[in-house]
Amino acid sequence: MTRIRKAVLPVAGLGTRNLPAAKVTPKNLLNVFDRPILAHVVAEGRAAGIEHFVIVLGRGQGAIEDYFDHAVELEQALTDKGRGELLAALTGDLLAPGQMSFVRQMAPLGLGHAVWCARDIIGDEPFAVMLPDMLMDASPGALAQAIEAHDAVGGNIIVVEPAPEGETHKYGIVALGETAPGFRGRLRRMTGMVEKPPPGTEPSNLFISGRYILQSGVFEALAAHSRGAGGEIQLTDALRARLDQEMFHALAYEGRTFDCGDPLGLLRAGVAFGLKHPSQGAAVRAALTALLAG
Ligand code: UTP
Repeated sequence: MTRIRKAVLPVAGLGTRNLPAAKVTPKNLLNVFDRPILAHVVAEGRAAGIEHFVIVLGRGQGAIEDYFDHAVELEQALTDKGRGELLAALTGDLLAPGQMSFVRQMAPLGLGHAVWCARDIIGDEPFAVMLPDMLMDASPGALAQAIEAHDAVGGNIIVVEPAPEGETHKYGIVALGETAPGFRGRLRRMTGMVEKPPPGTEPSNLFISGRYILQSGVFEALAAHSRGAGGEIQLTDALRARLDQEMFHALAYEGRTFDCGDPLGLLRAGVAFGLKHPSQGAAVRAALTALLAG
């Protein structure tokens, strides 16, 4: 089975649900307790064995490149002051030279278009897509679970999870076939995908939640630049076009997801990651308890 070495992280959307916070700070640099959302997601990718991250940027997002580069004066100042722990936290998020590429989408034409912008860097090997506003708290990580499924059955793996009761009409929902052996029954053949099905017509309650393992054939479908829902070039449409040519499985991953694409989801993620922080978790719990007590 071809190893999954590269991941595409599209961050070029407008982030309208996080305005005005995301006006001058790219949405994916907003904070989840102690570091940007994107740093948490890159850590998930590294833990899954990803060797090269392709970040699809929009205009005004140069700070994302800077986050993953050395900050020479800052690092020197921390060294001089003997702040080794902080320095380690700072440099621990950096990737080795050559492990990261940045491509510009130039216009936010949709998630499918953003992924297509990475085509030359991906080439013809299978690859991961990680939607960085979906923060997945899992052990092993959500992407590692998807790669394990890919190692077992190959093809395309779409990570899914149950939609909140009565909310399937807000999501991309999958239709399912037979269950693959192992994976505690959580890996099933995928036979279809419907974007925002009207209530009562949903083929399952599982929505596509932000981690994918894809075959490079998807770039052929994306090259058509067909516009779908909202006039955008949708990744889901391109995947649907590949359904009768390639194998797809849906993996109901084990973990919990925080949609950091809106302020409440971002707040929930910050609290959850704060509570489980190794050195500050207890202080976070005490602060929250005091706040709630009024
Ligand atoms: P979203 O639709 O959740 O993000 O896209 P958005 O468009 O930034 O947010 P809202 O709806 O305006 O609040 C999912 C992911 O795809 C990226 C986004 O940055 C996000 O990480 N994306 C979306 C692109 O990179 N380019 C696009 O044209 C659209």
